[in-house]
Amino acid sequence: MADAPAADFSLAPLPAVVRRVLFFVAMEHEAAPIADALGLARMGDARMGDARMGDARTGRVAGAEVTLATPGVDAATKVDRIGPVHASAALARMLALAREPFDLVVNAGTAGGFEAQGQRIADLVVARDAMFHDARVAIDGFDRVARAHTRLSADEATLARMAATLGARAGLVSTGSSLDATADELAAFARSGALAKEMELAALAIVCRLHDTPLVALKGVTDLVDHHEPTHAAFLRNLERTAARVASASGPMLESMCGRFDG
Ligand code: ADE
Repeated sequence: MADAPAADFSLAPLPAVVRRVLFFVAMEHEAAPIADALGLARMGDARMGDARMGDARTGRVAGAEVTLATPGVDAATKVDRIGPVHASAALARMLALAREPFDLVVNAGTAGGFEAQGQRIADLVVARDAMFHDARVAIDGFDRVARAHTRLSADEATLARMAATLGARAGLVSTGSSLDATADELAAFARSGALAKEMELAALAIVCRLHDTPLVALKGVTDLVDHHEPTHAAFLRNLERTAARVASASGPMLESMCGRFDG
């Protein structure tokens, strides 16, 4: 971890009061248990001023109005629109079309973890920062823009409180377009000390920076990136269990930011 990079960009801090929260989740298999855990219901057509993507759900949690949205299903393939490009396109559209601004975006979902970090399946990570691990541009300035290494909105005290409440670790979440990892990427994860590898967060951070909107994130481990088992096999086997763990932590995560919710 000696040369773990520092973030080049930072997001707006958490506001004193959070009234409206957008929960952004990539896959329906991740979203459904969160909706159940938070008691959220499908929005009727009349309420679709918010989100306008996928099938949004809404409800009140810890005094805040929560909208849960996904990028939706691709019409041609009938699978969830996963990956950083779909994530940023969907979030940009949601924030631009929202009937009133969201005070906070929460990204929750699954990720790869690292055996070398002592992680296990269904462990939780709260994100301190996010970056793209597959952005390689050997030109000064453009390299940092492409990596988009961004400090998210929770300050150290809030991160520590969330981590203690959830039994999670706080650290770097590394984003890319692929489920698997190359040998070079594995070496880079070891250098950066990443605790989670997934396919959305750094892209969402770019959108939140453009919109000056705070962002926090919670990830659950479905697979171990530095383990010999093929990632997709472990991911599919552990998706339901880990999604349930993330869902059960979602309410306590919102409540751990309490004092920021004014009822
Ligand atoms: N989501 C869950 N596991 C992942 C992994 N290993 N890489 C990217 N996204 C993931």
